[in-house]
Amino acid sequence: MNRLIIVGAGGHGKVIADNAVKNGYRDISFADDRATETCMGFPIIGTTDGLLQWNDGATDFVLGIGNNAVRKDIAQKYNVNWVSLIHPSAQIGLHVSVGKGTVVMAGAVINACARVGEHCIINTGVIVEHDNRLEDYVHLSPGAALGGTVRIGALTHVGIGAVVRNNITVCGGCTIGAGAVVVRDIHDSGTYIGVPARRMK
Ligand SMILES: CC(C)(COP(=O)(O)OP(=O)(O)OC[C@H]1O[C@@H](n2cnc3c(N)ncnc32)[C@H](O)[C@@H]1OP(=O)(O)O)[C@@H](O)C(=O)NCCC(=O)NCCS
Repeated sequence: MNRLIIVGAGGHGKVIADNAVKNGYRDISFADDRATETCMGFPIIGTTDGLLQWNDGATDFVLGIGNNAVRKDIAQKYNVNWVSLIHPSAQIGLHVSVGKGTVVMAGAVINACARVGEHCIINTGVIVEHDNRLEDYVHLSPGAALGGTVRIGALTHVGIGAVVRNNITVCGGCTIGAGAVVVRDIHDSGTYIGVPARRMK
């Protein structure tokens, strides 16, 4: 088993470390631009600008950063061996694809024929129904649920417990507030809240 470096030693990075242990990783380290010493007993070995020096062919990398734009910046800047992590308790349907760098957390369900892009976060207990299309750098927060044939554009963040009705398209660069219910297509980037979801003034 390769070594794993988790970039970001905050809360999201911690959940990824747990996911990684359950995937069999034993040699785990963090890189972080602020924290030093250790995180959950794993060493913090340096900062983000040192990533390339550890890209030795025997090291895997994953981004432990919740902010979509920051994840994109780092993923595009450093050409290292980004890997995806799927928690063993997640349910992945037939003909599902999950892009490199994407993390799928405990209890998430991704149903048949869904396609998930690169460096996405499919957080704890999320439901991604059949035939969904998620572009890169999407974050689905814990408990979010997407009905069948939903499309989510790049860099969109769906808040905790939010629901997107089946056959809906949400464009890129949106924030869907916690608990919102999206029942109409969203074509303009922005923040949407409430039931039904409306653009935040
Ligand atoms: C929608 C959101 C981005 C707005 O954040 P914000 O711009 O900082 O907004 P504020 O907290 O200042 O709230 C502004 C107003 O919107 C309301 N509001 C905020 N979030 C709301 C939500 N999700 N649903 C309904 N109303 C909301 C607030 O009550 C407040 O109303 P008021 O002016 O009448 O008091 C944020 O509240 C949210 O839901 N983020 C998602 C967080 C999440 O899911 N994190 C998971 C991480 S794993």
